[in-house]
Amino acid sequence: MPSRTALITGVTGQDGSYLAELLLQKGYRVFGLVRRLSSPNVTHLANIRDQIEILDGDLMDQVSLNDAVRKSAPDEVYNLASQSFVGTSFVQPVLTGEVTGLGVLRLLEAVRSHAPQARVYQASSSEMIGHVNQEPQNELTPFHPRSPYGCAKVYAYWACVNYREAYSMFIANGILFNHESPRRGYEFVTRKISDAVARIALGKAKNVTLGNLDAKRDWGYAPEFVELMWRTLQHNTPDDFVGATGESHSVREFAEEAFRAAGIEDWSKHVITDPKFNRPAEVFNLRGDASKAARVLGWTPKTRFKELARIMVEADLKRLRAASA
Ligand code: NAP
Ligand code: GDD
Repeated sequence: MPSRTALITGVTGQDGSYLAELLLQKGYRVFGLVRRLSSPNVTHLANIRDQIEILDGDLMDQVSLNDAVRKSAPDEVYNLASQSFVGTSFVQPVLTGEVTGLGVLRLLEAVRSHAPQARVYQASSSEMIGHVNQEPQNELTPFHPRSPYGCAKVYAYWACVNYREAYSMFIANGILFNHESPRRGYEFVTRKISDAVARIALGKAKNVTLGNLDAKRDWGYAPEFVELMWRTLQHNTPDDFVGATGESHSVREFAEEAFRAAGIEDWSKHVITDPKFNRPAEVFNLRGDASKAARVLGWTPKTRFKELARIMVEADLKRLRAASA
């Protein structure tokens, strides 16, 4: 098969960088859309920077999206760009709506005009499900978003379904539950904890301050989720798939497991809570049912909760030790 071309938005992020690596291994020509920042944020691309082609662009800017799609002439487009932090979406709701919601429509328009045959993957979210009324949650669970981020993702999800139906485009949504890795941003709770645990274990910090310890999430391992994204676009029809592990654990349990991975048994001595980290509306409990992805795409996540906490803590210990060597 001749090599295929992919355009990844959000290539500098956690998922985008893992996906770029996966697609390069599969022989793809990979273009990455990168927005202009005063200091380029390409840390996660260090190993593959010379193998991917960077295009300047921003989900806020229609012209740059048109150009990126035209220049890359992609077979597959993976839209992973977004303002992805739920906490910030309460502080910057309009920006979040513009980027995470309307930005997707801009990208769909660019694809419709310049590469209508391309297959499109939209990174939708379990935050759309939000306030759950069903356990576990699957592709048919009704949406009840609890944040401006969740609302923006619902808009984007339906824009994708609408363009699929209206224009017969190949557009698929991944309803992705939380997935983490050593490349996770530091503000997300798992990484905040793994980084703090490593600092505490190395004597560089004493405590970590968190919000709601009772919130429960279905936490998977990001490199396995980008495999699901790829498989979704290889399927013969465009369809929407939940990505999840089927296991749910509280923030408290993650902290406990992360401290244990660093050899610290009495985790509670090091965890402080502060309501300033609570959200105006919380998603209390998420647990996904990914049986459709298993049945149709043959995708099943392998890395379980304890292993994930260990991977993240060990990576942060290694990073901090190297930095102080
Ligand atoms: P991430 O690490 O926060 O990466 C977000 C990416 O979006 C970064 O590359 C960022 O670029 C880019 N971006 C932000 N604003 C942009 C804009 N205006 N124009 C162009 N690019 C922009 O997120 P992630 O964890 O990899 O998640 C990938 C996608 O999956 C996101 O859409 C997220 O909402 C969704 N999702 C994630 C999870 C999860 O648990 N990780 C679950 C469900 C859905 P900079 O480097 O310049 O900031
Ligand atoms: N960030 C953060 N910081 N969260 C905390 C803290 C804290 O100090 N203390 C408790 N939490 C709780 C939050 O209230 C939330 O219930 C849970 O930990 C997880 O928060 P995040 O790690 O920020 O992730 P998220 O679940 O809100 O959103 C992530 O997953 C979504 C999929 O469900 C993001 O990756 C989204 O982009 C993604 O769509």
